[in-house]
Amino acid sequence: MVASTRPPDSAAPSAPAPAGRFAAVQEMARLQRLLFEAEREFVRTATTLIYRIGEPELKYLLCQHVWESAGHARFLRERGRELSGFGSTDDVRPALREIFNEAVMPADATVAFAGFYLVIKPALLAAYRHYLSTTHHLADWPSRKLVEEFITDEERHAAEISPFLPVAASASEWIAHLTTHLASHATLFPLSPSHPLPPSACPNVPQSPTLLSASRTYAHPPTCNRGRFPTCSSVFGYDPADTPIIRPWLIDPSTDPRVIRIMVYVWLMMEMDAVDYLATVFYDTPHAPFDLHYDLARHLWDESRHSQFGYRQLPRLGIDLTTLEHSLDLYTILVQMTPPERYAMMTMEFEANSFPTKAHVMDRIRELNDFEADTLLAFDRNDEQNHVRSGHRWLPVLMSLFGETRPPEEFVTATRARFAELAKTFGGITPHSLPPERRLTGEKILRLVRS
Ligand SMILES: [Fe+2]
Ligand SMILES: [Fe+2]
Repeated sequence: MVASTRPPDSAAPSAPAPAGRFAAVQEMARLQRLLFEAEREFVRTATTLIYRIGEPELKYLLCQHVWESAGHARFLRERGRELSGFGSTDDVRPALREIFNEAVMPADATVAFAGFYLVIKPALLAAYRHYLSTTHHLADWPSRKLVEEFITDEERHAAEISPFLPVAASASEWIAHLTTHLASHATLFPLSPSHPLPPSACPNVPQSPTLLSASRTYAHPPTCNRGRFPTCSSVFGYDPADTPIIRPWLIDPSTDPRVIRIMVYVWLMMEMDAVDYLATVFYDTPHAPFDLHYDLARHLWDESRHSQFGYRQLPRLGIDLTTLEHSLDLYTILVQMTPPERYAMMTMEFEANSFPTKAHVMDRIRELNDFEADTLLAFDRNDEQNHVRSGHRWLPVLMSLFGETRPPEEFVTATRARFAELAKTFGGITPHSLPPERRLTGEKILRLVRS
């Protein structure tokens, strides 16, 4: 028997029960297929929370969970393809996609967040437990070991996210709505959604709720959320009384390396802008090959770690993070562009051109004998090399998804020009939250290292 080439929708339980010699295998393959699609849709849609939520710790955690979910999907696909009936495509059945398209809809991101973590993730965990309880411990041993590990991950995700929950009472209506929607797909999605709220908490929920996603389309917000932190357009500049990173100081041999260390940590922390704008690409590319989303999820997690390098180290060097404004220019400009344009600017422009300055910075920082700083920068550099390689691999694929037929080099050149044009309107639009005397500037960094 060969692997089924039936479209994914035929995996729904409304199709006839598998029969014949492979029935038991096909039954488990169906469930693995569903779990693969659910994990990949989680990656595609939970990423919309990242730029809408302001708390950095939560952004970082979401990036980590997205990356781990991409890993679950990849292992499921690898194992699933060993089983008759899993199917050979990466496609997601429309009925499942509808659930995730609905999950992103609340205008209040904390409400959407509650839906993902109080309805969808528990349903996924329940489905993994269901898998374990129904499969044969010896015959399906390879799947069982994976699923056991995923259950551990999902339980850890629930524990890691719990400090950010519970959310406002305003989320309870949405939780009830999403739970009902999921339950209405019980025949498709045999995940027996755990009901996070007792029925009495949601008395007026119809059995077939009207979907928000049926009447409007989700759109990325024009700016990203940084919560309690002050914001500005850019942290890079030339005036030491204005911005924290003074471009000429980074390459001036007379700059104190301790100043360069703080400036590069600010630079790294601001890679949170890469986290926010890269996170917009997933939702916009529902028909991307899963391998593209997998590599983007890794890229996203890398950028969140780079941002954490700064976020965790700066306070140790005496920087009060509430005086450090977050730069929003790249998000506000790039969100006006198409996904291949965003990705082209990121990989072929910002990342590809960052190496010479960062190499110089690394040389200067070695003078400090700060092993941890050297380590963080070395890993950053290694990751960035991978990102540029990834850009060469995936930009043509992203371009083709959007019907772009120009050669990549020509597209990149045109995109640079378009970015410069859009920057005139959408760049520089975020005013300083803090007056110069209260915000971190080059002058203050200099004073700090001399004190
Ligand atoms: Fe980075
Ligand atoms: Fe990068």
